[in-house]
Amino acid sequence: MEPASPGIIIPDDYTGYHPDFFCVPRHYEGALECVLVPGGVIKDRIERLAQDIAEDIGKEPIFALCVLKGGYKFFTDLIDQVKKYNHYATRNTIRIAVDFIRLKSYKDDESAGDVQVIGIDDLSVLTGKNVLIVEDVIDTGRTIKELLRLVKSYHVKSAKVASLLVKRTKGNFYRPDYCGFEVPDKFVVGYAIDYNEYFRDLDHVCIVNEYGKKKFGSSYPNGSIRQ
Ligand code: IMP
Ligand code: MG
Repeated sequence: MEPASPGIIIPDDYTGYHPDFFCVPRHYEGALECVLVPGGVIKDRIERLAQDIAEDIGKEPIFALCVLKGGYKFFTDLIDQVKKYNHYATRNTIRIAVDFIRLKSYKDDESAGDVQVIGIDDLSVLTGKNVLIVEDVIDTGRTIKELLRLVKSYHVKSAKVASLLVKRTKGNFYRPDYCGFEVPDKFVVGYAIDYNEYFRDLDHVCIVNEYGKKKFGSSYPNGSIRQ
């Protein structure tokens, strides 16, 4: 098998774009250090990831598993692009089934340690399938390794992982099969990726600054946006 592509590498000294160059909701003004990956670039990268996925694993039906909540934007945009392959095809079309799983391991910007499965359908539907796990961010790699272990325990035919971002976190050597961007080990938000449930309503992947972390931390105003 080909070695996994690391994705577009964004170096540690990359300072990104000033948020004022893009449309950012007013409620996040002053909370962002920079725009790391603009939404348009994310979309372009996803188009290519979809092509890679279609060519590599599209011959057999794909069971796409979205890791909620952070993965929902990447998931819908990626699947939409894979589906495009069927528009003009009369045969060898790509069959896609979807399902959703919810995990939780973070509070504010700290990993809470254990990976909790807090929303799950019956995973036995995965048995015998070619599963494509679609995740937002890989940091320590703990969540994805745990999820892969769980998915494989259902005797799937194959299990691949697509992640929009992989952080260059010390000690994490795990790399997904399909990766959008390899980014510095900083807390990122936007494009459905949250900090304490905030920033999902931001179109670009951004780095949140200390003011933003303080303002939208678990004590703002009475904790998480999701009361
Ligand atoms: P890991 O288990 O350390 O790899 O963490 C992966 C999970 O933590 C991902 O599914 C994300 O939901 C969350 N996460 C990791 N880094 C970030 C970040 O920078 N921003 C928001 N969520 C993150
Ligand atoms: Mg996630």
